[in-house]
Amino acid sequence: MIVRVLGSAAGGRFPQWNCGCPNCEGVRAGCVPARPRTEESVAVSADGRAWFLLNVSADVRAQVEAFPALHPRGLRHSPIAGVVLTSGDLDHCLGLLVLREWHPLVVYATEPVRRGFTEGNVFYRTLERVPGQVTWRVLKPEEDEELAGPDGRPAGLAVRAVPVPGKPPLHLAGVRGADPADTVALLVRDRSGRTLAYAPGVAAVTDDVRRLVGEADVVFFDGTFWSSDEMPALGLGARRAEDMAHVPMSGPGGSLAALAGLRAAARVYIHINNTNPVLREDSPERRAVEAAGWAVAWDGMELRV
Ligand code: MLT
Ligand code: MN
Ligand code: ZN
Repeated sequence: MIVRVLGSAAGGRFPQWNCGCPNCEGVRAGCVPARPRTEESVAVSADGRAWFLLNVSADVRAQVEAFPALHPRGLRHSPIAGVVLTSGDLDHCLGLLVLREWHPLVVYATEPVRRGFTEGNVFYRTLERVPGQVTWRVLKPEEDEELAGPDGRPAGLAVRAVPVPGKPPLHLAGVRGADPADTVALLVRDRSGRTLAYAPGVAAVTDDVRRLVGEADVVFFDGTFWSSDEMPALGLGARRAEDMAHVPMSGPGGSLAALAGLRAAARVYIHINNTNPVLREDSPERRAVEAAGWAVAWDGMELRV
């Protein structure tokens, strides 16, 4: 399986348009060693021809142009066979509306994520302009589902959605209660049994989360924040990482400690918030992450699972 990082930042990108934090200012001015990043999304493929996007961000147009394997191979064509969503957060699904040029799309998502996107959303009608434009395939928690594009041809990959601690998308807060399937991690498996665990949003490392990433050959994990008080410490509001349903990397309950000893050959942090000090390639936090065997995803990173 080929895994290509299209975007590696959390919602808002890096730098974020309205952010003057030291990281964002530094990368704008070119005076900190850090790469700009678009919003988190990863493309996976068994054969290098048909690709599935894990989450689809509003940055998808630029992400497609930056990766020739996703360019059309005909007058109207896309190697993107489908999209798999880990949540209904806007940074994970706004790109569906971007991909609206009458193109048939298959979208895999849990039922609360499907409903959250389609119900009462007039913009969604633009994805229903022609019959069969979008086909939803509902992911039942803990069940394997064969990935196939609009033509129904199996892509050689199966996906399993595993509920993880999370939250409903912000725009549904107060509209309905939380559902355990609001946030899932994905286990993507090829025919040889090689497995990618993709978990870009996780509120806490529970035993279930540890088991899930423990079976994978390659792990992508929530790297939003380095520390619980990252935003308050910068003067950016009062909310701690946990209040935003993101387990920080550092600290006693952090993912570095809680996930020490994974068997995965590659461990990669993704969905990095622009405030996170690991974005700076010369920071002590970046050194600590790398010393623990983790990489920090960048746009264009490619791995074989
Ligand atoms: C998150 O990762 O917590 C969300 O993307 C936040 C948001 O929707 O703005
Ligand atoms: Mn997000
Ligand atoms: Zn910033």
